[in-house]
Amino acid sequence: MMKACTMRIGFFGAGKMAEGILSAMPDRSSVIVSDVNPARLAEIAKTYGVAATGDVREVAKSASLIFLAVRPQDAATVAEAVKPVLKAGQTIVSIVAGKRLAVLRRLFGRKPGLVRVMPNLALRAKAGMCAICAPKGTPPKAVKAVRDILSAAGEAVVLPEKDFDAVTALSGSGPAYFAYMEEAMAEAGVALGLKPAAARLLAEQTMYGTAKFLRESGMPLRPFIEGVCTKGGTTAAGMAVMDASDFKRVVAGTLKAAAERSRELA
Ligand SMILES: NC(=O)c1ccc[n+]([C@@H]2O[C@H](COP(=O)([O-])OP(=O)(O)OC[C@H]3O[C@@H](n4cnc5c(N)ncnc54)[C@H](OP(=O)(O)O)[C@@H]3O)[C@@H](O)[C@H]2O)c1
Repeated sequence: MMKACTMRIGFFGAGKMAEGILSAMPDRSSVIVSDVNPARLAEIAKTYGVAATGDVREVAKSASLIFLAVRPQDAATVAEAVKPVLKAGQTIVSIVAGKRLAVLRRLFGRKPGLVRVMPNLALRAKAGMCAICAPKGTPPKAVKAVRDILSAAGEAVVLPEKDFDAVTALSGSGPAYFAYMEEAMAEAGVALGLKPAAARLLAEQTMYGTAKFLRESGMPLRPFIEGVCTKGGTTAAGMAVMDASDFKRVVAGTLKAAAERSRELA
């Protein structure tokens, strides 16, 4: 499955997201990572048995597929350092939020292929959601390699770049919103008399189990909701409050604000 790993894979930045991708790779023998933080670099090298360097140019010189996994404000510094040593045939895979392909092209120059990815934090549990966009001309082998690597860390779909602000708002930022919902459910459980640890477990397992069932069954959402809402029952009583509330308007506003911020960051 992981033919991708026969090519040398590099990382600019060895933070949380890089570790999520790295930890899901079944074969890390050809990986080289770089980071400005020596302690972090040593920890990643030791945990995953990968080559490590404090110099991003070492990665740029030796890897053919390189994940750009630094924070948005650090992307230009990395690009400036590696641009002179990048060659045609290499591919930069940016997971940086908001940075468009046109911006990445300006930063990294004309030589390397480019792929833009919007991942989410759940890839740290091998249950990530990644959207992939590759412009025309990106070597198909590189796009397949990216897809294989990210599929090992969850789901990966290919989408046009015009969708990326919406993707960023929904799946990129989504883990925080679902955790917020869990927090609200757990707090409501505590208000009903549950101990905090029990309330959290009940909320979390219910969220996890519901998503797992929906994914595995492929059941449409409306019949599922209506199926749980037995007429005159407890769920129906709760659902009536939810239905009469501003809940969906608040969720729509939340995603709209995140998508607007994504557009601004570009
Ligand atoms: N976290 C998310 O949920 C999420 C979701 C979607 C997309 N993303 C994107 O993923 C990217 C990485 O996020 P993250 O959460 O993994 O960030 P992170 O944990 O802060 O990791 C970034 C790492 O890069 C290092 N770094 C900074 N400048 C560098 C340089 N010039 N050369 C080499 N390494 C350098 C940082 O070191 P220092 O800390 O010492 O500066 C840090 O270890 C971001 O661009 C973000 O937009 C994140």
